[in-house]
Amino acid sequence: MSRTIAVVGANGQVGSDIVKAGRRAGFSIVEWTHRDLEIRHGESVRKAIASLAPDDVVVNTAAFHRTDECEAQPQRALEVNVSGAYHVAAAAAQAGAHAVQISSDYVFDGMQSVPYVETDAPHPLNVYGASKAAAEMLVAAANPQHYIVRISSVFGTAGSSGKGGNFVETMVAKARGGQAPEVVDDLVMAPTFAHDAASLLIDLLRLRAAFGVYHLANSGQCSWFEFACAIFEMTGSALRPRPIHSSAHPAGARRPPYSVLASTKLHDIGLQPRPWTEALKTYLQEKGYTR
Ligand SMILES: NC(=O)c1ccc[n+]([C@@H]2O[C@H](COP(=O)([O-])OP(=O)(O)OC[C@H]3O[C@@H](n4cnc5c(N)ncnc54)[C@H](OP(=O)(O)O)[C@@H]3O)[C@@H](O)[C@H]2O)c1
Repeated sequence: MSRTIAVVGANGQVGSDIVKAGRRAGFSIVEWTHRDLEIRHGESVRKAIASLAPDDVVVNTAAFHRTDECEAQPQRALEVNVSGAYHVAAAAAQAGAHAVQISSDYVFDGMQSVPYVETDAPHPLNVYGASKAAAEMLVAAANPQHYIVRISSVFGTAGSSGKGGNFVETMVAKARGGQAPEVVDDLVMAPTFAHDAASLLIDLLRLRAAFGVYHLANSGQCSWFEFACAIFEMTGSALRPRPIHSSAHPAGARRPPYSVLASTKLHDIGLQPRPWTEALKTYLQEKGYTR
């Protein structure tokens, strides 16, 4: 019988690609949407996860991840991102199942000027990042059989349900509408294609990689402005976004100026994420924005 992967947030941007990648690799998949499971409620989480067997896997993609709203609603951020993550990982441990917690580049403060590796110490700047860092520690404490998987600036074909789309969709809509938006040029990150991160996660499970922290971002780096320019260029727009400094439109939460993730532990086991530019090309083709 094949191993089961249960995906919490199965219809989300990352969750839906994990479901597809898991099926492609021959795992049997259980999909839990927010309607099926509320991760803030420990008892219902335990009941659902008790149906799994030892060696099965629970992947928690659910989060309250609108960064500025987390600043205004820290209680909700803690309930969903910290308590929720703990409930899932602890229930998985009770069932003998492995826990995968999806985490974020925002656990770092961005004071480095070289990519963050898995062993760098988290030091979050905002409530969202702090809640994800706390979740990492609680998941590790609750379930020794865990993978903490950090990703960044995600674009996936399903679009983020929590954020209402994704950055690429926003830029494509602007380009098609003949608008040249202002985009911040002083925040640098590694865009991550949800399809690629999901496939790499499934590879980790398939290969039974050592438990621990992994970065699963596409390779390379860019500012949001450079990312926007690539989207305009690849979709054939004659327009170009205009660079602005993030201080021009102060947001509710402080953001790390440099949160590039280097996926060094993947390299150690022979896996290699492709450059974000190639991943973006694939995304735009799949969505029918380019030929
Ligand atoms: N998007 C990014 O740029 C980014 C960057 C770094 C890390 N991450 C992390 O990646 C993960 C997935 O992000 P995503 O972009 O796929 O988000 P998403 O599209 O919003 O998916 C999250 C899923 O979780 C569900 N969910 C939310 N709250 C829940 C709760 N309390 N109980 C049960 N289910 C709940 C959502 O359902 P409803 O929509 O119906 O509530 C949705 O299906 C998150 O952990 C996030 O922190 C994301």
